[in-house]
Amino acid sequence: MLIYHLRDVVMTRMAEGVEFRLTVPSLQISLGEKIALIGHSGCGKSTLLDILAMILRPTGVGAFRFRPEKESPPVDVAKAWAQRDLNFMGDLRKHRIGYVMQTGGLLPYLTVRDNINLSRQLLGMPEDGSVEALAKNLGIERHLDKHPELLSTGERQRVAIGRALAHHPSIVIADEPTASLDPIAARKIMALFVELVEEMQITVIIASHDWDHIKQLGLRRLAHRTSQNRAGTVTETKVTG
Ligand SMILES: Nc1ncnc2c1ncn2[C@@H]1O[C@H](COP(=O)(O)OP(=O)(O)OP(=O)(O)O)[C@@H](O)[C@H]1O
Ligand SMILES: [Mg+2]
Repeated sequence: MLIYHLRDVVMTRMAEGVEFRLTVPSLQISLGEKIALIGHSGCGKSTLLDILAMILRPTGVGAFRFRPEKESPPVDVAKAWAQRDLNFMGDLRKHRIGYVMQTGGLLPYLTVRDNINLSRQLLGMPEDGSVEALAKNLGIERHLDKHPELLSTGERQRVAIGRALAHHPSIVIADEPTASLDPIAARKIMALFVELVEEMQITVIIASHDWDHIKQLGLRRLAHRTSQNRAGTVTETKVTG
């Protein structure tokens, strides 16, 4: 069963006189798959992730269907975008998607516990000990009552991962979640992250630079190719996953 089904999705952006174009002729991701997006800086990884997270509205859409659970039919995201149904998109995102940012994006005025619990709280989910259990799995339970500023970068990334998973989304999207860490810490946290999503049966898409490690963890790499026109005024990345 497909969680994502995209056809002819295009995103065009202008930056300093150079046009960047991301084209996705066809992309299919099955529920439960583990996907990696590997590529050089500027090739469009964050752009694609933001489109998949429904944060960014593509410039052109042939088809964009999202089916976060087996029990319900696919959601027509292209139609929701066309109708500018932002409440619907917001609800869908809040319930179904977890997002781990490169630098964590934790709220400094909340404790670790409240940061992890944020997504659950927004959805009115009960306090059932799952935040504590998750923190334990992530090795950060002793920090639950602290504020993020007292934690190391690696510990903060663990909190960010916890926050993205706590409400049991269908998919978690992670944009270089370990980029600010040293290579050893990065691999340790990445392995833990992948182990957790497998255990929780959550589909995952991760942008990373460390293909060797990502391959070891058993992720499927989305193929893409970047090219430039002769005048150097258009850069295009074509995704062929
Ligand atoms: N908000 C924006 N407005 C206009 N152009 C943008 C914007 N964000 C990114 N771009 C351009 O889109 C292209 C792709 O950027 P993107 O951030 O998706 O790349 P990336 O692969 O995530 O790079 P990195 O590895 O550095 O994070 C770049 O050429 C960039 O200049
Ligand atoms: Mg990026």
